[in-house]
Amino acid sequence: MSLDEVLNQSHQAFKSCKTLNDLEIEKAKFLGKSGSVTILLKGLASLSIEEKKQKGAEINLLKKSIEDNLEQTKVRINNLILEQKLNTEKIDVTLSGHKQQLGSLHPVMITQERIEQIFASLGFSIAQGPEIETDWFNFSALNSPLNHPARSMQDTFYIENTDEHGQNLLLRTHTSPIQVRYAKQHAEKYKHTEIMPDIRIIAPGRTYRVDSDATHSPMFNQIEGLWIGTDVSFADLKAVYTQFLKIFFEDDDIKVRFRPSYFPFTEPSAEIDMAFSKNNQQKWLEISGAGQVHPKVLENMGIDSAKYMGFAFGSGLERLTMLKYGINDLRLFFEGDIRFLQQFSQT
Ligand code: DAH
Repeated sequence: MSLDEVLNQSHQAFKSCKTLNDLEIEKAKFLGKSGSVTILLKGLASLSIEEKKQKGAEINLLKKSIEDNLEQTKVRINNLILEQKLNTEKIDVTLSGHKQQLGSLHPVMITQERIEQIFASLGFSIAQGPEIETDWFNFSALNSPLNHPARSMQDTFYIENTDEHGQNLLLRTHTSPIQVRYAKQHAEKYKHTEIMPDIRIIAPGRTYRVDSDATHSPMFNQIEGLWIGTDVSFADLKAVYTQFLKIFFEDDDIKVRFRPSYFPFTEPSAEIDMAFSKNNQQKWLEISGAGQVHPKVLENMGIDSAKYMGFAFGSGLERLTMLKYGINDLRLFFEGDIRFLQQFSQT
């Protein structure tokens, strides 16, 4: 067979290949161990040196040309495969997509963040305390000694072990212990200054009680407020708290009442109610306890009660959220029903 014939044959053979596998088989026929080109090369052995030189160069050219064609054919086949894939694996852009579900803040947390912002704008900073609290911070320091009847108003979950100082531990029943923790540190820090700078904090957090119905849950959220200075009075409490409610509810005509009440840690004490309408009737909902910080509590904080005075309040975050959004059952907050929660999504 002449070299031209071999070249022609290889072209024809590669042309009809549809897969890389076909191509491998055809390649072997020309370039393999017993392929035409290999046989031609073997044939050189019987030729004279002059002939070898000439024929050898021609065969090498032939080999190179077959190899080039082989590479081109590979590219052609790969393109073919890609084209087939593109045709068969089409993306149907008319198919409706899967919506990515984004999480969002729980309505009670939206309330908490909003209240934090409002009080921050009034000059308050945010304080925190532990949910597992000592008996002393939760009750005794707040003027509710052991066996005091006020303790049974706040029945809670006790923890069997004591802390490293032998203190009894419990799940805090309110955020009020944060008042004592913060004020104690503050007083300690400024004990050598003649006048202590004002304490002005709000402290949100989870609280626990043995309670469960449409308006009570064993776990709920409160936000505590405390302002202590040299002349911070009950009038300031009324002004600050009413102002806060006006901003929070975006309503300047809000109806608030401070109803005389009793808390061991304040004197005088009040409960703060807010008016809301239900079936065209005006009703009141208690949203907060409040009062003038009791001198004994100030002393427990390490603060001179002859020099300083202040007010405190502790508000129910769920209650405020219910009023804000017109929700009538507290338990909705804890069921985790996505249909309920989605209504508060801000995204
Ligand atoms: N800790 C009280 C409660 O949970 C609420 C309260 C009342 C907080 C009066 C206060 C306060 O700071 O001064 O029922």
